[in-house]
Amino acid sequence: MTRLAVLASGTGSNFEAICEAFEKTPYYPVLLICDRKDAPVLHKAERRGVESLHFPLPAQEREEAAGRLSRLLREREIELIVLAGFMKVLPPVFVKDWKDKILNIHPSILPRYPGTEAIRRAWDAGEEWFGITIHLVDEGVDTGPILFQNMFHRLPEDTLESLENKVHRLEHLYYPEIILKFAQGWRRTK
Ligand code: GRF
Repeated sequence: MTRLAVLASGTGSNFEAICEAFEKTPYYPVLLICDRKDAPVLHKAERRGVESLHFPLPAQEREEAAGRLSRLLREREIELIVLAGFMKVLPPVFVKDWKDKILNIHPSILPRYPGTEAIRRAWDAGEEWFGITIHLVDEGVDTGPILFQNMFHRLPEDTLESLENKVHRLEHLYYPEIILKFAQGWRRTK
């Protein structure tokens, strides 16, 4: 697998980490899909010369829109979809269509804290351990088969902000590595 599409909604720091890691390799993303107009990630893609498309997936017609997205991805001969801060839940029909070809990164040690604001909720709950999970996407929210996790213990001097920074550093470090291994055929075996 080589042709990679990234789906993102916001800042795009993971998108940048992926682009930097895959510079001058056959895994460099060929397409960035963003559901939010004017999200910083769109400008990052433009600066890097990656084709970028604003592609809204409104709740009232998510299935139809996802069908159009699926066709677009096939037209572009995409082989692997990487979610990097993509804030929409993809409909089951889309997930089935791309079974075992969608990866996601989540800023918690799943199955704990699925969904939004995972780091803040873990902090509010007084958790001692923080980390990341990279997983295949299934029909649920952050429930797919786990490929990789990495975690660290909170230090007494940590703040919510320092923990967020540490989590993001882990994401940028490991997501490209796991995407590459996965694209090259590696699968986690228990
Ligand atoms: C990351 O924390 C990722 O784990 C989560 O959304 C955030 C996206 O950040 N799914 P960015 O847009 O890549 O900077």
